[in-house]
Amino acid sequence: MKFRELIGILLVGAFPLTASAQSVTKSPANEQYLPRLGDIMNNIQLRHIKLSFAGKAQNWELAAYELRQLRAGLVEAAVMYDGIPVTNVATMTAPIDSIGDAIAAKDGKRFAKLFSELTVGCNGCHQSMDRGYIQIRVPTEQPFSNQVFPPRGTP
Ligand code: HEC
Repeated sequence: MKFRELIGILLVGAFPLTASAQSVTKSPANEQYLPRLGDIMNNIQLRHIKLSFAGKAQNWELAAYELRQLRAGLVEAAVMYDGIPVTNVATMTAPIDSIGDAIAAKDGKRFAKLFSELTVGCNGCHQSMDRGYIQIRVPTEQPFSNQVFPPRGTP
């Protein structure tokens, strides 16, 4: 798969927040700012955690949002860092798309299974890039005590 095609595939649905994001403009000093890959990955890690707990809480709207954010993070990594093997990013599109389907179908069981597969994909790339020491797993504890994960109005 060509790099451009891949970006095209990944970009679908990746930037849902453009309208509101446009009101925040970059200052000239920030024009050259390139986030470090580790920082993009840290954001992806947060989205991975939040996606997991949104799915567990059956908050499908939040889960869809976090999935879009996670996808956008991977697009950023692939666009900004040439050294990232395109095939490794491409392997993430299938589980991400399938999770999107599970979210649309509000299917918690399928979501959980696919979330594990997505996590295997994270580690696959880390291993292939000599980062096998960065091991991701399905989170067990919700670290964000200041955010509510069940849908609004849930008792
Ligand atoms: C296409 C390759 C690739 C994929 C896919 C990928 N990563 Fe990474 N990740 C990297 C690389 C490369 C680094 C090391 C960055 C560096 O050396 O600066 C990294 C680093 C990290 C780190 C360490 C950040 C830090 O500085 O502490 C975390 C956490 C992480 N990734 C989470 C994830 C999660 C979660 C997923 C899956 C949702 C994922 N990554 C998918 C390539 C990938």
